Amino acid sequence: MRSFTGRDILSLNEFERQEFFRVFEIADRLEPIARNRQNTDLLRAKTMVTAFYQPSTRTRLSHEAAMHRLGGRVTGFADPKTTRAGDFYQESLKDTVRMLEAYGDVIVMRHFQAGAPQEAAGWSSVPVINAGDGWGEHPTQVLTDLYTVLRERGRIDGLRWLAVGDMRMRTMHSLGHALSQFDCPVTFVAPPADALFPGSPDMRMPEEYKARFARSGLDFREAEHVEQAIVEADVILVEPVIQPDYTLAHHEASEEARPSTPANYKITRELLAAKAKSDAIVLHSLPRMDELPQDIDTTRWSRLWQEAFNGVVVRMALLALVLGAVE
Ligand code: NCD
Repeated sequence: MRSFTGRDILSLNEFERQEFFRVFEIADRLEPIARNRQNTDLLRAKTMVTAFYQPSTRTRLSHEAAMHRLGGRVTGFADPKTTRAGDFYQESLKDTVRMLEAYGDVIVMRHFQAGAPQEAAGWSSVPVINAGDGWGEHPTQVLTDLYTVLRERGRIDGLRWLAVGDMRMRTMHSLGHALSQFDCPVTFVAPPADALFPGSPDMRMPEEYKARFARSGLDFREAEHVEQAIVEADVILVEPVIQPDYTLAHHEASEEARPSTPANYKITRELLAAKAKSDAIVLHSLPRMDELPQDIDTTRWSRLWQEAFNGVVVRMALLALVLGAVE
C-alpha cells in the first residue's frame, strides 16, 4: 500500500481496497475524540487552507471542525469574490495556489470546474484534497458514506446498494469508483432526458463513467424506478434530481416554482415502510429537495445525522494521514 503522507486526495479512482480500510482504521482510532467533543494536539504544528470557489455548508465546515479537533490551524476563503480570483483580475489557479501553498500545509479545494483540484495539485508542493469539482468527483463525501455503512452495518462487502439521483453528480462518480473495490452490487436510478419537464437534461450515468466502472469490474445496472430496486437494497443513497448546474460559479436563490421530483426518483416514508428491508439504511450527502422528505428522519432507516458526524471523523483521518501524523 502506498503511503498517505504528502498525498493528494483527488479521486477515488486511484484508491485501492486496502487504502479504504486504512482510512477507516484511522477514523476508528480518532472517532472517540470527536464523540467526546475533545480537541487534541495531533496536528498542532499544521495549518489547513480552504479554497472554496463554490458554496458549501458541510464539506468546508467539517474539514475545519476536523482540523480543530486535531489541534491544527485553519485559514482560507469560502467565497472567491472576497479574493482576487473572483474580482476584476480573475487571478489564475496557478498564481492563487502558489500563494496558498506558502500559507499552510494542506489545501482543501472546491471548484466549479471539474479537474481544478487536479490542476492545483500540479502547482502545489503541499497535498490538495478535492472537496468537490464541478461534475467531477467528491472523494471525501463517499469515504464518509462508506465509513457510515461500515459503522452502521458492521461491514461493507456483501451489501447491495441503490443509488438514486442525478448521475452527473460528483458524489455518484466517486461512489462508482469506490464500490468497484468491494463486493457491492449497485443499481443506479436516474431521469432520462425530458423526464422532469420538456427539455430537462439526461441525468443518467454518463457513458464515460459506465465504461470506466465496467473496466474496474463494478457490478452495476440501471433501473427506471426506485421500486424496481428498493426491495433488495441494503444501502439507499439518495441525491437530488432538482438542482443547479454544478459547473457554474454562482447560483442565485430563486423564487421561481421548481418542479417536484417524480415518484421514480423519490424515497418516501411510505415506500420504505412498504418495500425496504427492515435493516436497510438511507444516506444523503445533503442539501435535499423533495426527493427525501423530512419525515423519513425519524424512521429506523435514516442515518443522515450519523453520516454528518462521520464526515468530521473521516476528514480527521484524512488530514492526519496526508500530514503524516499517523504513519
Ligand atoms: C454534495 C456536493 O456539493 O457535491 N453535497 C455535499 O458536499 N454535502 C452534493 C449536493 O450538493 O447535493
